[in-house]
Amino acid sequence: MSLRNRVCDLLGIDVPIVLAGMGGASTPKLAAAVSNAGGLGVLGAAACSPEDLRAWIRETRELTDRPFGVDTLLPASVRRGKTARAAAGGPSPMEQIPQHQEFAAKFLEEQGLEIPPPSVASPAENDTATFTKGFFEAQMEVVIEEKVPVYAAGLGNPGPWLERMRANGTRSIAVVGAVRHARQVAETGVDIIVAQGHDAGGHNSPVGTMSLVPQVVDAVGDIPVLAAGGISDGRGIAAAFMLGAEGAWVGSAFLATEEAGILDFQKQAIVDATEEGTTVSRSITGKPARQIKNRWAKAYEEAPFAPLPMPFQSFISSPIMQAAMAADRADIWPGFAGQGIGMIRSVVPAAELLNRLVEETEAALARRI
Ligand SMILES: Cc1cc2nc3c(=O)[nH]c(=O)nc-3n(C[C@H](O)[C@H](O)[C@H](O)COP(=O)(O)O)c2cc1C
Repeated sequence: MSLRNRVCDLLGIDVPIVLAGMGGASTPKLAAAVSNAGGLGVLGAAACSPEDLRAWIRETRELTDRPFGVDTLLPASVRRGKTARAAAGGPSPMEQIPQHQEFAAKFLEEQGLEIPPPSVASPAENDTATFTKGFFEAQMEVVIEEKVPVYAAGLGNPGPWLERMRANGTRSIAVVGAVRHARQVAETGVDIIVAQGHDAGGHNSPVGTMSLVPQVVDAVGDIPVLAAGGISDGRGIAAAFMLGAEGAWVGSAFLATEEAGILDFQKQAIVDATEEGTTVSRSITGKPARQIKNRWAKAYEEAPFAPLPMPFQSFISSPIMQAAMAADRADIWPGFAGQGIGMIRSVVPAAELLNRLVEETEAALARRI
């Protein structure tokens, strides 16, 4: 049985299995390995500066002649400046930064870690700091200048850039977690929609994958849908087809590959985890994101205040992630991951994983009940 379908024709690939854009993890090496094996590798470029993004695109082109994608974020809340404003009567996120910095410093001290020098600019001082409106727009200019084969918006609607991307031959993907968002991106004319459910690692929908996928399929007419969230083996991909999807956007399973850009202790945390090993928290980016259970997320659960909205929370959390990674502390920052990690047992080359996913999907589809 061949898995080849119209998603393959649209994207110029052999099998409709896409490496999800995963910030920091889906690097040029991993994306190229997946593309070379016949899937679509998508760079997790959300936190890349425009210069780093350009370098990543060029590096990927050195490693593969096949199509690949770039994933960044375009959250509507940040683009409208909504999250920078104060809640009625309360202090603005900008005014709350010192309180959260103090909380982070105390947390690091309690954990026996040094406060690292700042690696990202404050959104209070710099209007192109990480995850600000200016940052997202500058990334999009690079996506357009570099004429990438595929662009994926991990949050938000790429509508304003579609015409320029289309003129370059760039295919567009939008990741959604609700039917109303699926309708919005369908109306602006994206080529493919990813329905990403609550099981997924990283930014997350309140709706489970099994419920979300068929409802998105029904809402978007003839636009192909890829399923995402909790798909870590071929049974999940076969199930996605049964739900009306035409392929899968797979994240966490590719974290346990030799090429993934995360640290060895984080790969081990994935192999060690069970299906109960994750939690959803706003403690890293300010938006709800599924991650392996950790002390930083727990500290916010117990704090008298909630994390700041995007883009402010990354400024607070990045020193924590940096310190944890320098000290191999899986208890503090093991990383984002989805509920499917209970199925992941070892770290393998990405091509081996892709081939296994294809074989398992074919076997599951061939099985009779
Ligand atoms: C480590 C990690 C980082 C992620 N970073 C991003 C990101 O930068 N942009 C994005 O659109 N989605 C991101 N996601 C979500 C993935 O694109 C994808 O939707 C998700 O991994 C699918 O669910 P799964 O992990 O259960 O396969 C991330 C997921 C993980 C696990």
